[in-house]
Amino acid sequence: MNKIILDTDPGIDDAMAIFTAMAHPEIELLGLTTTFGNVSVDQATTNALSLVEMAGVDVPVARGVATPWVKDLSPFPDFVHGVNGFGNVSLAPPKGTAIAISAAQFIVDQVNANPGEVTLVAIGPLGNLATALQIDPSIAQKVKEVVLMGGVIAADGNVSPVAEANILSDPDAADKVMAATWSVVIVGLDVTHQVILNNALFARIARENPKVGQFMAQAAEFYIKFYSSIRDIDGCYAHDVSAVAYVVDPSIFGVIEGEVCVATEGVAIGQTIMSRFGIPYPLTFWENRPKQKACMEVDSARLVDLFATSMTSDFWR
Ligand code: BDR
Ligand code: CA
Repeated sequence: MNKIILDTDPGIDDAMAIFTAMAHPEIELLGLTTTFGNVSVDQATTNALSLVEMAGVDVPVARGVATPWVKDLSPFPDFVHGVNGFGNVSLAPPKGTAIAISAAQFIVDQVNANPGEVTLVAIGPLGNLATALQIDPSIAQKVKEVVLMGGVIAADGNVSPVAEANILSDPDAADKVMAATWSVVIVGLDVTHQVILNNALFARIARENPKVGQFMAQAAEFYIKFYSSIRDIDGCYAHDVSAVAYVVDPSIFGVIEGEVCVATEGVAIGQTIMSRFGIPYPLTFWENRPKQKACMEVDSARLVDLFATSMTSDFWR
């Protein structure tokens, strides 16, 4: 069983990842921690609570950081996720509230209570993870693994030619996460841009999942419209759910290793730069950093199947 904390900025593809984690029999979801990103942290927290209630599960939600570590907050991408983060599909306000401790404190407490067992699955900007490290640096030795949807090593970026959105939203926090002596797995655009979730799949989810299927399909319609308008695809990318898939079945992916620095300013801001060729360079930014992993290959059919199976399983009946 994989104990995970999902650090999230829901977000349409975040909802896909959250529902998959809730339904997957090999995941124990300890909690959702929220961050600004696709929407404000207040909206992200409301959205996380709504998803928990819609699914009818008992999972705590902890509110996290509202702004980046150093840079100014950028406008939220309402053209990707809608003004409310769910493609403007309106939901009744959730009845529940966030727990009294912060996201970072929740992470610290859970990791200390379950040393060696907790995987942090981060599918938004990385401020909560960087703050947790600041509160208690010893968690780096106690976390099982950090699996994050973010970054891109060799493919194209989605918010600049070299940067991915989650990393660009808080490059300074991301650089701290890459530098820490825990094991990080980057599930970035190198693989998520290889996997497409199409309308037919969401129609099936709407038919077969009585609890959250209709909502998921309606929200996905907005996301698919956005992606179909800017890229030559008929569907949307499987960004955030890919990180959840890695946790339960890493054999879906092919990985490389290397030390990672994140560019925190200038034209390359937000770029995740991995020293992956095993040769010494005159520039020494990567020296004394731990080797981290990055996914470069993915078995698309198996990933889509994992998502489809989780979204239509008996868990929802
Ligand atoms: C990432 O950015 C957000 O828009 C998505 O939720 C995903 O986490 C993709 O670059
Ligand atoms: Ca996200």
